[in-house]
Amino acid sequence: MATRWGICSAGKISHDFTVALKTLPAEDHQAVAVAARKLEDAQEFSRKHNISKAYGSYEELARDPDVDVVYIGNIHPHHLKACLLFMNAKKNVLCEKPLAMNTKEVKEILDSAKRNQVFLMEAVWTRFFPVSEEVRKLLAQREIGEVKMIRSEFGIPLLHRPRLVEKELGGGALLSLGMYCLQFVCMVYNGERPESIQATGVCLDTGVDETVIVTLKFSEKRMAVFTYSSSMKLPNDAIIVGTKGTIQIPSWMWCPTSLIVNGKETQYPLPEPCLPLNFHNGTGMRYEAEEVRQCLLKGLKESPVMSHSDSLLLIELEDEIRRQVGVVYSQDCL
Ligand SMILES: NC(=O)c1ccc[n+]([C@@H]2O[C@H](COP(=O)([O-])OP(=O)(O)OC[C@H]3O[C@@H](n4cnc5c(N)ncnc54)[C@H](OP(=O)(O)O)[C@@H]3O)[C@@H](O)[C@H]2O)c1
Repeated sequence: MATRWGICSAGKISHDFTVALKTLPAEDHQAVAVAARKLEDAQEFSRKHNISKAYGSYEELARDPDVDVVYIGNIHPHHLKACLLFMNAKKNVLCEKPLAMNTKEVKEILDSAKRNQVFLMEAVWTRFFPVSEEVRKLLAQREIGEVKMIRSEFGIPLLHRPRLVEKELGGGALLSLGMYCLQFVCMVYNGERPESIQATGVCLDTGVDETVIVTLKFSEKRMAVFTYSSSMKLPNDAIIVGTKGTIQIPSWMWCPTSLIVNGKETQYPLPEPCLPLNFHNGTGMRYEAEEVRQCLLKGLKESPVMSHSDSLLLIELEDEIRRQVGVVYSQDCL
């Protein structure tokens, strides 16, 4: 039986996610309903994507008995409220990253998932690309020996997008861009908490972070460094340096389609989208969707690849980076 998806919000990433679902077999994945704050937006989205039900409120989607799992694609200051709404209605949830604005909010979401006994995953899509799977396999086999250093970057000029600039829209480059580098470091070092973390950067006049360099020190003299920016294009690759070699992920490291292991490159092409996409390699969200399906079929409440503790570590480190750079959201003051 197909996994029946409800789509929460009719914005840019919801569009790409729904296109990505169409690259998977229809007998496995179906978008059955969409909800937006305005009914007309949901109706337009449903026409474009051939989805049978359109709702003008998220509450109606939460009540739909035909929905197995809700994909939450609204902006992050509203993730907490949406997650609680759907999970209290006993819906499984795949929520866009960042799961929420700070550790306090993420803990509330994780508690709710446990209390309601539903599946919940932060949509860190990068982790489910075949390239990332291959990286984890190579590391487990110690193909490059002991990892000593990780470097990565995510920078694109996005200051024309209010969502990256305005605080009340969840602005700031860490939660939108830098988190991809951070999650990469956390994945490679297997969820280990760093011994120390240092962030230096510049902020916009709106009080959110624009360009930041973060260095992390782990046990056994292992290091990581990453740079993120919402104002400039960076090389956008990643490299893992081990005692016996290197693994390189060429641009774009957050949605990778090639891998260079000790100089030898392999390509991992994505399927073509049926409609134009808003974001690079958007059809790559198919892999996280399939992960959700497999977890649901197994009766799991979290994914072992992007677990609740992975989300918690990520947001705790993000809070610390923001603290050092001096970014305070209204949600931090509640
Ligand atoms: N995985 C990825 O690669 C990726 C890429 C981009 C973004 N994202 C994440 O996806 C989320 C959405 O990003 P997006 O670029 O798709 O954003 P967007 O198109 O600007 O907005 C998405 C939706 O959020 C709701 N929304 C927008 N402004 C709002 C406001 N002021 N108050 C309440 N709700 C509002 C709207 O929902 P309605 O349609 O219901 O009105 C809108 O359609 C963000 O959390 C972002 O971090 C992930």
